[in-house]
Amino acid sequence: MFSAETYAKRRAELRRRIGSGLILLPGNGESPMNYPNNAYSYRQDSTFAYFFGHSLPALAGVIDADSGAEALYGDDFTVDDIIWMGPQPSVADLAAEVGVAQSKPMAALAADLRHAVAQGRKVHYLPPYRGETTLQVSQLLGIVPAMVHDRMSLDLLFAVAEMREVKSAEELACIEEAFDIGYRMHTTAMRMCRPGRTEQEIAGAVDGVAKSFGTGVSFATILSQHGEVLHNHDHSGTLESGRLLLCDAGGEHTNGYVSDHTRTYPVNGRFTQKQRDIYEIVLAAHDNAAAAVRPEMMYTEYSDAAFRTIIEGLKALDIVRGSVDDALEAGAGYLFMPHGLGHGIGMDVHDCENIGERSFPMDEFEERAKASACCITRPFWRLREGTVLSDEPGIYFVPALIDKFRAEGKCKGIVNYEKLESYRDFGGIRLEDDLIVTAAGAKVVGDRTIPIKVEDVEAIVGRE
Ligand code: GLY
Repeated sequence: MFSAETYAKRRAELRRRIGSGLILLPGNGESPMNYPNNAYSYRQDSTFAYFFGHSLPALAGVIDADSGAEALYGDDFTVDDIIWMGPQPSVADLAAEVGVAQSKPMAALAADLRHAVAQGRKVHYLPPYRGETTLQVSQLLGIVPAMVHDRMSLDLLFAVAEMREVKSAEELACIEEAFDIGYRMHTTAMRMCRPGRTEQEIAGAVDGVAKSFGTGVSFATILSQHGEVLHNHDHSGTLESGRLLLCDAGGEHTNGYVSDHTRTYPVNGRFTQKQRDIYEIVLAAHDNAAAAVRPEMMYTEYSDAAFRTIIEGLKALDIVRGSVDDALEAGAGYLFMPHGLGHGIGMDVHDCENIGERSFPMDEFEERAKASACCITRPFWRLREGTVLSDEPGIYFVPALIDKFRAEGKCKGIVNYEKLESYRDFGGIRLEDDLIVTAAGAKVVGDRTIPIKVEDVEAIVGRE
């Protein structure tokens, strides 16, 4: 955790941005796996942690934007709780640690909020992403669950995203520390990779590294010879010589910040020429996008640098024909890379995505999104100094998508579908690093490089 002053300053800034009303920030509770006392690994809500620090279940924070009063709500442990969980700090102590003057039992929260509502005051809250939180907000405010999403505060949503997007020096230091876990995870996978091993064995080892050096994985590990399946969580394959293994994985540090990297490499440790040709294009897209980054540039321009490199590279292989502009206009970029180039990185692996563009009607709030230009609306995102984002281009050969494009006559005369036939079983390649936007451009997160150049990859794969 950071100092009490850090959290106090963040809350004061949030209060200044919101102006009036109450700001309700519920923390996450435990989430049962199959019965109440057997819960999933606990994860605090990142926005609660950003403003109130603590990573403990069943807390809620309230900031009165008019008066500046702040309170942490939660229940002190009873002796019964202590028998199972050991002694814990009181809620008053927890509040004091993050510079909050008042602490109250959870039962007081509903009364305080309803009192504010009765006085005609607005209660600002973010759109919940867990069912339990939707029910909690519904009960606290006396509204039916179906109304909870519609009554969220757009002011709060943009204010939180704008604040969380730009990382302070102490946050950047945490992100640099989180890199070390990602480095260990990926080099473990690369060293273990060899024909005959199972994906499961390697994925298990990778997850073990995340747990050994931090709180665990920052998202479910993607480790598969079917790299063309973007978020492939199936690890049932046995590694075969001649195929590629894609590993997209990250760890969460105990400091609350995360890493997210992807590497793709030949199972037998040697790229074929065909694999290498595609790999070098993806690597060039990765490098060109990173080199293009400048503070105040639009995300779309950053993304364009990667898509253009990919299309140019595929033209050189005669998979795409004609001008790059025509190919992009016709949708060839989507055919080969059906995902965005990057997303925010911070306390969440898709930082602030719970309050992202899918959580509000973009067309109704387009002007607002343009004015904010923060990470939650990628079409209007303007990169700032201190923004951290992923750089993850890929080239995928997805048979179903190729067939769909061809059947619909898309990219006719642009995509060489005959040539593409020989890539149907190629799979996919993605390469990903995390970038910090600096005054001069971009810095790749980390003090080392997870092997990425062909010769460096070939030097590590299979070398245990
Ligand atoms: N690297 C995982 C993701 O972007 O979702």
